[in-house]
Amino acid sequence: MDKQKNAFLLVYGCQMNQSDAERMAGELASIGYARTDDMAAADLILINTCCVRESAEDRVYGKIGEIKHVKERNPRLIFGITGCMAQKEGDALIARAPHIDFVLGTSKVHELKNVVREIEKERGHIVDTNLTETELPDGGPVAREGKLSAWIPIMYGCNNFCTYCIVPYVRGRERSRQPEDIVREVEEAVASGYKEVTLLGQNVNSYGKDHKCADFADLLKMVDEVPGIERVRFMTSHPKDLSDKLIETIANGTHICEHIHLPVQYGSDKILSAMHRVYTVDSYRALVARIRKAIPNVALTTDLIVGFPGETDEDFAQMLAFLKEIRYDSAYTFIYSKRSGTPAARMDGQVPDEVKHERLEKLMAVQNEISKEINDRLLGTTQEVMVEGPSKNDTTMWSGRTRTNKLVLFPHGAEQPGDFVHVKITHPQTWVLKGERV
Ligand code: SAH
Ligand code: SF4
Ligand code: F3S
Repeated sequence: MDKQKNAFLLVYGCQMNQSDAERMAGELASIGYARTDDMAAADLILINTCCVRESAEDRVYGKIGEIKHVKERNPRLIFGITGCMAQKEGDALIARAPHIDFVLGTSKVHELKNVVREIEKERGHIVDTNLTETELPDGGPVAREGKLSAWIPIMYGCNNFCTYCIVPYVRGRERSRQPEDIVREVEEAVASGYKEVTLLGQNVNSYGKDHKCADFADLLKMVDEVPGIERVRFMTSHPKDLSDKLIETIANGTHICEHIHLPVQYGSDKILSAMHRVYTVDSYRALVARIRKAIPNVALTTDLIVGFPGETDEDFAQMLAFLKEIRYDSAYTFIYSKRSGTPAARMDGQVPDEVKHERLEKLMAVQNEISKEINDRLLGTTQEVMVEGPSKNDTTMWSGRTRTNKLVLFPHGAEQPGDFVHVKITHPQTWVLKGERV
């Protein structure tokens, strides 16, 4: 019998990349590779990469360098690069680092098994970054990382071409899976014990615009009705096409969680227009008002970019004012990173690094204060929490989340991961709510 082989997967980037990696792990398991956490024990190392910002790429180049030494000690090791940076760089990765055996693009997840087998037999380099947009990379086995919460991709690619963003170039055009395939995957996840699913897409609101079999609101309702499902999450929502029908569906849902990640990116019309976001501060404000009216306890989170070309102190002041007006529960804040090939990279008025950093600091300070104030209001309230597991920093505490996706910590009792419990919030903080079970 073949000796047990081990695969070490390193995953960067967004949830879509994590979800892809679970599908890659599934493919690898089908040819005898068990997933290991020990890089030194691996027969195969895979890096599923991200290139959304330069910093993400730098981290990957650092790792590629590190793995050169691992491969010197173990020349039989197979080393592959997948994901968005593989799509973007292709051959250039092997030219720069010949210890890489293969480079596989974002639409080639289901080819991984064949590529690895070929290299096992023949060695040599394989590069396949042909972006096929007709086939959907699903239907294959999935080796999920979590036991309670499952990522379910509902669509691939993006059509929006925000001027700063590389994603549409490396992920191709929008392609939606068939609703019945998605529902089947959710049913299978529930049957194997998953309590929560997160429906994933770069812009879930445009789900189904291609096949027209169902729109996102229809899909969400179908998933909400799967027997046994406890929580339904979804991301990301683009503000330009979040319909009233969808808002109603979330408001009337049973298991659909009251959390919308609704990236605004910026708070001034001049910059939003230069970013090609296709909404204005006013239309976004009106959307938020409709959402909050229909779903009063909703949590809103966002992504923000500082230092976009042409950003002035005046624009930035508008952005801070907008944040204070909308009051997000939390925000991911990014410094604009120039991505060659995107329109913004060629725009005038690139902002100097020190200014970008200063603005980021200010933005984070304002947002942190808001997050803390919002969480402070939960003091003394009782929240429904799904127990996920021991807290990373303090194993005497359980960690879990509210339906609004807030992290909650409370002392261990008799409960187990997957249980739904009620926790009274006693110590709200900026990033976490601490409490006691009631
Ligand atoms: N499809 C999602 C997210 C895609 S990438 C959406 O549209 O919301 C995640 C986040 O990375 C984006 O929301 C944006 O805030 C940020 N981002 C994308 N390109 C960037 C760039 N060139 N520099 C800095 N941040 C960027
Ligand atoms: Fe990038 Fe915009 Fe598409 Fe999001 S919607 S992935 S930010 S191009
Ligand atoms: Fe990164 Fe690709 Fe996601 S560039 S953010 S891993 S879609």
